[in-house]
Amino acid sequence: MAGTRVGMIGAGGVAQRHARVLSGLPGVQVVGVTDVVPAAAQSLADAHGGRAFPDVEALLGSGLDAAYVCVPPFAHGDAERAVVAAGLPLFVEKPISLDWDTATEIAGLIAKSELVTAVGHHWRYLAIVEQARALLRDRPVRLVTGAWLDKVPPVSWWPHQDRSGGPVVEQAAHVLDLARHLAGEITEVTAAGNGTPPPVDGADVDGATAATLRFASGAVGTLAATCVLGWKERAGLEVYADGLALAVTETGLVVRDADGPRTVDSDPETARIAVDQAFIDAVRGDGDDVRVPYAEALRTHAVALAVAEAAATGRAVTPRTAEVSHV
Ligand SMILES: NC(=O)c1ccc[n+]([C@@H]2O[C@H](COP(=O)([O-])OP(=O)(O)OC[C@H]3O[C@@H](n4cnc5c(N)ncnc54)[C@H](O)[C@@H]3O)[C@@H](O)[C@H]2O)c1
Repeated sequence: MAGTRVGMIGAGGVAQRHARVLSGLPGVQVVGVTDVVPAAAQSLADAHGGRAFPDVEALLGSGLDAAYVCVPPFAHGDAERAVVAAGLPLFVEKPISLDWDTATEIAGLIAKSELVTAVGHHWRYLAIVEQARALLRDRPVRLVTGAWLDKVPPVSWWPHQDRSGGPVVEQAAHVLDLARHLAGEITEVTAAGNGTPPPVDGADVDGATAATLRFASGAVGTLAATCVLGWKERAGLEVYADGLALAVTETGLVVRDADGPRTVDSDPETARIAVDQAFIDAVRGDGDDVRVPYAEALRTHAVALAVAEAAATGRAVTPRTAEVSHV
């Protein structure tokens, strides 16, 4: 079998992780990298025996089988348009954009092209998430409580609203995606931000956000996000149904029911590998286990944007799912 040739657009932290995982998969080669910082592209290319390219066009002209877009939220758009125009399968990191219009435009292009796509919501590949879904199969969810309680990540764009979209869009999106996966679609959100940025120079994002979520099923939920700590305190989701309490994080599942509590440990690295393996398998036509294609990530993005809008305006917001039903 010929190797699968992958190109990376963006060479920062998450691109380095994907390149490491991809290089460890049988028959996959990271053959090219481009970044607006040429030295970053060169360094990542050197680490994996690939070539650095001066721009996206040159990379896409080098004979790829798939492209990864691993740029910050504000930089989405042009890279995806170019990958789709080149007819290449596309892996995109979350969040898929800062705004709604860019993401729906890309979703529309993808829908027309019928290309394989995947988005980096790797939590969906945790075995404990499957176990949680199985436990909830016969028990309607009543309540979810999600949280992302963390520091400001050490990347310069993160604490700026117009670069990252803020903590809910940028970070808590993983938890909102999990909430949708375990409890179904979210039909209305309300939220409040505390209006004070985290203690980082130049920051203008909210230091804390609290939201309420209403689900189509009748379940209700909350999301709490903060970035004012100096460490990652907790990121995860608790789910409650009649006689059942579940607590899911990347590192474990705690189940409590009439039989008492039990804990299942989880290694997040397995999900980070699985998300890349599933995409590569789909690119090769060897499998269809992409759990979050672009259109599905758009639905999570709609919820995250709705929470951000609700926090900014003080009004209840309906996530714009109706507008994405065609993609
Ligand atoms: N799924 C996950 O677990 C996970 C983990 C970490 C980061 N992420 C996401 O990945 C994205 C990137 O995060 P990061 O930590 O790698 O950031 P980073 O700042 O370390 O890297 C981003 C890279 O993109 C480059 N870049 C910016 N604009 C570009 C453009 N137009 N074309 C090409 N390159 C460009 C930058 O120079 C930088 O090297 C973020 O949206 C983040 O949320 C996801």
